[in-house]
Amino acid sequence: MLSPFFRRVVFERLYTSTVWSHSGEILEIRTLHDGTGAAPSPYLTKILREAYDGELFFSNSLNRPLIIANFVQTLDGIVSLKIPGQSGGAEISGRNDEDAFVMGLLRACADAVMIGEDTFRNAPGHVWTAGFVYPHFEKEFHAFRKHVGKHSRHPLNVVVSGRGHVDLDQPLFRHEEIRSLVLTTQQGAARLRQRYGATLPATIRLLPGEGRIDPSNMVALLYAEYRVNLLLHEGGPALFSSFLKRSLVDELFLTMSPQIVGRGRTRERPAFSDPIELAPEQAIWGALQSVKWAKRGHLFLRYRV
Ligand SMILES: NC(=O)c1ccc[n+]([C@@H]2O[C@H](COP(=O)([O-])OP(=O)(O)OC[C@H]3O[C@@H](n4cnc5c(N)ncnc54)[C@H](OP(=O)(O)O)[C@@H]3O)[C@@H](O)[C@H]2O)c1
Repeated sequence: MLSPFFRRVVFERLYTSTVWSHSGEILEIRTLHDGTGAAPSPYLTKILREAYDGELFFSNSLNRPLIIANFVQTLDGIVSLKIPGQSGGAEISGRNDEDAFVMGLLRACADAVMIGEDTFRNAPGHVWTAGFVYPHFEKEFHAFRKHVGKHSRHPLNVVVSGRGHVDLDQPLFRHEEIRSLVLTTQQGAARLRQRYGATLPATIRLLPGEGRIDPSNMVALLYAEYRVNLLLHEGGPALFSSFLKRSLVDELFLTMSPQIVGRGRTRERPAFSDPIELAPEQAIWGALQSVKWAKRGHLFLRYRV
């Protein structure tokens, strides 16, 4: 008969992902439910599969990219505190290692990561790669992309700004290894040229629209010209809700962070779907695919939408 201590060790070796150190912490993810079905063949590398405590794969039979989204929200449904300098996902997750790892893993799977101008502006210096958000596994993420035949080391970074307010001096646009793209309108491009001159220090693609671009045009361009088969949408809410409205979201990876922060009197703190209003007639229902748990009480939910 095993002592309680050894029973726990045996249980943890059998049922939890092994231990990976990031900021001196133990990375520990346990799968509580997995209804995704068996992968056709092993997709993740062994180390990534162990760290994620299971397989992660995507199949796309659509004539456009499969669109998956990743958000972290508080128990009361908030994704940004909207406090200057403290409005990002890190404040929402409590700088949680497992959340950073999952974010990195999704970026490693993606052909492109998309963000809205406000999310971009609130993350100076950030680049939307797997290794940037979870450096401890940088080599592993690269090995994985190579193993699954991705044609670039990093996903294409796509910044969306209808009005062309993007700061093109950000390091993303000078990075030698990361391909990046600004999707904007005629009006946005004119504003950027006014500010930076005729030769812009970034790749800009123009799409039709007065200030706002129809998400289906963004998706069609990425599919046809940039070979994007898996698009990871990282928000924020203003951009993401326009995708929800056009039914252009296939899966949602939602981290529930166990804190309650309050919406405040001004009610400026958004949910990931703000500002659209769907219920009751047009509510979007999700089908639960998997649930994972991390040691500080974060839950990782995967829904097919
Ligand atoms: N917790 C999380 O997981 C998470 C994830 C992402 C973001 N966030 C946070 O959410 C906040 C930002 O969210 P947000 O909703 O304020 O802004 P956002 O969606 O990141 O960016 C909004 C801007 O994107 C452009 N945009 C949006 N939809 C567009 C469309 N259809 N066509 C063309 N341009 C479009 C517009 O830029 P122009 O005005 O230049 O036209 C708009 O002002 C930040 O604090 C960020 O850190 C949290």
